[in-house]
Amino acid sequence: LRRSKPPSTLSHRALALGHRFADHPRVHRLLYALRNRRGFTDLYQHDRMLADEARIDAYRDAFARHVKADDVVVDLGTGTGVLAFLAARSGARVVHAIEHGVVVELAEAVARDNGIENVEFHRMHSTTFELDEKADVIIHEQIGDALFDEGVIANIGDLRDRVLKPGGLILPGRLELFVEPVQLLDGLNAPFAWQQQIEGIDFRALANAPDAESHGYRYRVFRPFPFQQFLCETEPVLEIDLLTVDPADTARLISYERPVTVPGRIDGLCVYFRASFDDEISFSSSPEERPTNWGTPLWRVEPRDVAPGDSVRLDLEARDLASPRSWRWQVSVG
Ligand SMILES: C[S@@+](CC[C@H](N)C(=O)[O-])C[C@H]1O[C@@H](n2cnc3c(N)ncnc32)[C@H](O)[C@@H]1O
Repeated sequence: LRRSKPPSTLSHRALALGHRFADHPRVHRLLYALRNRRGFTDLYQHDRMLADEARIDAYRDAFARHVKADDVVVDLGTGTGVLAFLAARSGARVVHAIEHGVVVELAEAVARDNGIENVEFHRMHSTTFELDEKADVIIHEQIGDALFDEGVIANIGDLRDRVLKPGGLILPGRLELFVEPVQLLDGLNAPFAWQQQIEGIDFRALANAPDAESHGYRYRVFRPFPFQQFLCETEPVLEIDLLTVDPADTARLISYERPVTVPGRIDGLCVYFRASFDDEISFSSSPEERPTNWGTPLWRVEPRDVAPGDSVRLDLEARDLASPRSWRWQVSVG
């Protein structure tokens, strides 16, 4: 694509610099920490999570199978208390429900209304939580649209190392990340603005926009995802076991080359996850499975037709798994 000369005004350069600044992992972490406590005071978020049947069913089944009578359970980020209450109903002796947001007051009211007495609430950040006995189980739902972007590795790793018994469980404990070449539904696909030709008007000059290369523009979260089909066999690019992961080990280089198995148009790479409690019970944000409350990110590429015989190559550098804005990817089709 031929681009016309970019504007070189001061405001254009300042905007481009601003986009680069916002993509820095430290800036992302700071903004996330500031937003998180307030963000989850909003009923809107809890409303969607409580209504997510695929999510709730998986936790209920997993607790029925893995939480034993007399267990000491710690719930990291209890929100409305729903997971703590399900674990309490599964027979736990006590559930310590940690929550740094004011929503914990509402969770306490739900517990009172339902006569649930074996949940103890702790209004604090999990890193300051202490327990004078060891826990049998840590439960959590610290999962973002891009899997790690709610700080699950750092928060669970910290709590695990300080309060979990040797041989204790983390539910869910296995997290898998998928980055899959995908075709979107016609009419809802995502060509770049500079590829547009509308009634003979050519928009290629938009390729010089200050945010054309920014993460914010190239990464779009859909809710729901306009899924047509995957173009290759799906396979996780990363698997994390929360029982063993080192909380400081959050940079990754990921590469693959995958044969195209289905003819179609590549619109981008679809990012989703699977969170597993064991080999049978899990939930996933895959667009092929039961709908969930998670959004599905798309890493956009310039759309092009592909067919069996082609392959898709991905080179991904994640400077910080918890900060998708810091991820850089190259996709080539050949
Ligand atoms: C995704 S919501 C899940 C809420 C609830 N567990 C559920 O499944 O519906 C995550 C919750 O964890 C809280 N949270 C996130 N990080 C936390 C931390 N490190 N310590 C305490 N609370 C935290 C947030 O305020 C939010 O209410």
